[in-house]
Amino acid sequence: MDVIAVFRTFFEEQEHAWVRSASLVPQDTSVLFTTAGMQQFKPYYSGEPSPYGNRVVSVQKCFRADDLAEVGDSNHLTFFEMLGNFSFQYPDGENSYFKEQAIRMGYEFVAERLGLAIEYVTIFEGDEHTPRDTESERIWNELAAEKDITLPVYGENRDENFWGPTGSEGPCGPTSEIYVDGVEIWNLVFNQYYQHQDGTLEHQSNQGVDTGGGYERILAVVEQTESVFQTSVFADVMAYIQDMFPDLALEHQRIIADHLRSALFLSADGVTPSNKEQGYVLRRLIRKVLSLAGMKEESLPGLSKIGEKFKEEYVERYPELEDGLVNYTTHLESEFETFSQALRQGLKQAHKMLKGREDNVLTGEEAFKLSASHGLSPELMRLNGIEFDEEAFEAERERHREVSRAGAEHKFGGHGLALDTGELKAEDADEVKVVTRLHSATHLLNQALRDVLGEDVVQKGSDINVKRTRFDFSYPRKLTEEEKQQIESRVNQFIEEAHDLEVTEMPLAEARQSGAIYLEHESYPDPVKIHQFGTASKEFCGGPHVENTADIGTFQITKEEAVAQNVRRIRGVVR
Ligand code: ALA
Repeated sequence: MDVIAVFRTFFEEQEHAWVRSASLVPQDTSVLFTTAGMQQFKPYYSGEPSPYGNRVVSVQKCFRADDLAEVGDSNHLTFFEMLGNFSFQYPDGENSYFKEQAIRMGYEFVAERLGLAIEYVTIFEGDEHTPRDTESERIWNELAAEKDITLPVYGENRDENFWGPTGSEGPCGPTSEIYVDGVEIWNLVFNQYYQHQDGTLEHQSNQGVDTGGGYERILAVVEQTESVFQTSVFADVMAYIQDMFPDLALEHQRIIADHLRSALFLSADGVTPSNKEQGYVLRRLIRKVLSLAGMKEESLPGLSKIGEKFKEEYVERYPELEDGLVNYTTHLESEFETFSQALRQGLKQAHKMLKGREDNVLTGEEAFKLSASHGLSPELMRLNGIEFDEEAFEAERERHREVSRAGAEHKFGGHGLALDTGELKAEDADEVKVVTRLHSATHLLNQALRDVLGEDVVQKGSDINVKRTRFDFSYPRKLTEEEKQQIESRVNQFIEEAHDLEVTEMPLAEARQSGAIYLEHESYPDPVKIHQFGTASKEFCGGPHVENTADIGTFQITKEEAVAQNVRRIRGVVR
């Protein structure tokens, strides 16, 4: 199915004027990038007449630098396209609409045109500043009755169901979201308010609708793929990258695909690598890729080719990519040159610093300076045989983290770890202690999920580093606040009960009958070890674990989200 054609046709039938995507570099200088479809229409929400009429539809190029550090999992992207329909100047504007029609059109597009089974919808539950969106709730319930379908409507808090403004001020309001297969597929924003610079909300006399759905995520649901990187927009490039870098981890292959697509689109919108603002972000994207590609000049033609493949995929809709590709290739080459130069300088500096020194190891501060000023990342230092105090380096980096959040490097590039079980990674002894506590907490979480959500919950993956545990599990929908609370409390209850660790080894066949949790398709050694914390948890596992659950501290869930159809992800920390 051509989702974009279906989308455009449907909203044009509903009298929406088609408006081309605005540039990724917005007119509104209070934000670096265009992050949503409504940005180019901001003035029309506050009274300025829209030259396109009061109903418009667009597919907008978006770039979210905030998501940069998350890229590598199955659904985070820096660049993406957002489908959206918009209405301005309600109720007085000609042909404008508000909640009733927005919800009905959203439903018709998702359920009847895309043919997707809506699992549930959400509305804003209200808080001390803003009332519950009972109007949307009523409309959804009426619609469900009319269509004779079951459609749960859940209330969600401000974090989840209130949107905007982009930049320092602007329109904003409660949202209503449509979920399919556990994935948020459509977001309806009802711009009832204007948020001023000082944070105050003003009720708007003319209201508007701003909707959006990430194209790649919708495509993953329509095409039934487990990640956005397997959809038709990425499949060809991912195959090419897998051929070109067969030894790179999937996470890194995805980063290359994501970052190069972004680099192509940013280059086409006039961004040039530099040390500030948009240029700095582009530089970081390109340098991350060059670094992952091992800083080899021979990789440049292949990296250019990836841009060319993306150009072919998109040029019909974005003719600017024709010239953009030339800029992209130039930027890759010039960045390779300047980055190599910086690295050579950095290496020279490093050798100078080490001269006459007995231990031949850089201090954390020195290493950080080299990384910040010459781009000599830990990966590249290791690649060039430069030793440094990794722990002190990390501490130094942590101090600077806030400043360079936009370009945060992935911490675990893959070399020199003190602990790497595949699931657990730690760089030194102190980190080992933290990930061990997180690991035991993860076992308790696995059990708590079953206790709260039911025995059908199956672990789908787990990844633990010094910052957090990340646990994926099968579940068909978003968890409610209450469920999250219950799960977190259950883990903390296990901790407080202070269960001792007991490790037993037994033949695999016997172990499978023991009631311990294990993964159906995982291959285990025979005999296999079972790690048990009293009555709290019992799992096949190789460790390491704390001696007693009380050693874990306090467990906290920091995030719950969808990663694929029917797969949820929880992130948690220990304190
Ligand atoms: N502007 C809304 C969003 O980005 C639709 O989700």
